[in-house]
Amino acid sequence: MNKTKSILAAGLIIGLGMAACNTNGSMHRNPGRIYAPDMVYSRAYDAYTPNPNFADSQTSRLPVPGTIAMGHELPDHLKEGDTAAYKTYTTMLRFTEDQLKEGGRLFTIYCAICHGPNLDGQGPLFTSGKFAAMPANFKDPKYLNMPIGQMYAAVKFGKNAMGSYASQLDIKQRWQVLAYVKQQQSKNGGAAFTLGTGPMGTDSTKAAAPAKDSTVAQTSAAAPKHS
Ligand code: HEC
Repeated sequence: MNKTKSILAAGLIIGLGMAACNTNGSMHRNPGRIYAPDMVYSRAYDAYTPNPNFADSQTSRLPVPGTIAMGHELPDHLKEGDTAAYKTYTTMLRFTEDQLKEGGRLFTIYCAICHGPNLDGQGPLFTSGKFAAMPANFKDPKYLNMPIGQMYAAVKFGKNAMGSYASQLDIKQRWQVLAYVKQQQSKNGGAAFTLGTGPMGTDSTKAAAPAKDSTVAQTSAAAPKHS
């Protein structure tokens, strides 16, 4: 009895299976309709398909030479050891009072421990005797009018006992800290402060520092034109 039942069940399953496969006709050959075929089959060349528009027939192209990646809008081509370039290197950035305050905050975090909260080189790490090298006294005539590019180089590459701060401060922040230092220096007998004539990104460099025109042109030519 059981045997008959299972034979019947097996037959039923096979029958259903064959019906589902529908091997006998064109009834189910129609692939159906596609909604918005342009979206299914791209009219643009897909990334890895051959492309007759280019000599090398590659659809994926390299960025145009001189392309600046997002987040890297500020160019920095300063090379370590190029001390002649250090002296003329500058920025097109300009800082508002709030941004200068932020520069001061960053100075307190990263620099004041050595250079002192008052910029006199008497930071607690030095005065405690735990750090033997005398940090630069930014109020000393030796540093008062140091070209900002040279200071930038010290932050980017380090200087003797001072390590590089390139990994802690991004390019904008380096200039921001140095703008703060320059502002403080101008209040202590240094040259007039020229980095604060407008919101950040304003290219007022040419008006502010005509003497440094060549470097400025170089810097702003490499920068994107959205400022
Ligand atoms: C660990 C201590 C220490 C810290 C922190 C430090 N510096 Fe210095 N810095 C020094 C010493 C020491 C010198 C002197 C180097 C020399 O001339 O031998 C120096 C020199 C400098 C100079 C002069 C460079 C030159 O060409 O003579 C600048 C500018 C400067 N530091 C900026 C900064 C800024 C900005 C920061 C914060 C981002 C900072 N430093 C953080 C120790 C430090």
